[in-house]
Amino acid sequence: MKICILYHSQSGVTESFANVLQEVLQKAGHSADCLKLATLNPVKQASVRDKQEIKITNLPDPEAYDMIMFGGPVWAFGPSPLIVAAIKQMDHLQGKKCCSFVTMGFPFRWMGGNAAIGYMARELRAKGAVPQAGAICTRFSKDLKVSMQSRAKELILQLG
Ligand SMILES: Cc1cc2nc3c(=O)[nH]c(=O)nc-3n(C[C@H](O)[C@H](O)[C@H](O)COP(=O)(O)O)c2cc1C
Repeated sequence: MKICILYHSQSGVTESFANVLQEVLQKAGHSADCLKLATLNPVKQASVRDKQEIKITNLPDPEAYDMIMFGGPVWAFGPSPLIVAAIKQMDHLQGKKCCSFVTMGFPFRWMGGNAAIGYMARELRAKGAVPQAGAICTRFSKDLKVSMQSRAKELILQLG
């Protein structure tokens, strides 16, 4: 499959996870592009429920890909407002296979990770996309890189 890994990363953790995903996907024979979201103005560090205007300058064309993977940090027990804005602002997601991935600071998935993946899946369904799977990486691992590789492999096993 031709896959776009589209992500928001403020301090680099989700970016590392996106890079690990790219490596693992490529080893599994897929083509994978990583694209970090850019905006006209800095994104306010706030809950996705707080209104803010986000102007994204580099949205990809989903028609160029078989699957889009959307990733970002967990903020305030939910998804990053930027990755949700990307889902909302993207055209041509109808029928598109998608995945979500998040990184989080707290050690338990219920401290925002599950809610973020659920929120992103609902936003994707609202655009007519077909969410396939979600991955959550907490930063409380002895070896973060190994943990990211495990989460990435689990995600890929779930792809339809
Ligand atoms: C504004 C803000 C809110 C956050 N809220 C949560 C949270 O609710 N739960 C959690 O586990 N981590 C939370 N974190 C930690 C980030 O999710 C975590 O550090 C993440 O890996 C950062 O990813 P990044 O380096 O790609 O930006 C928060 C961080 C920030 C800056």
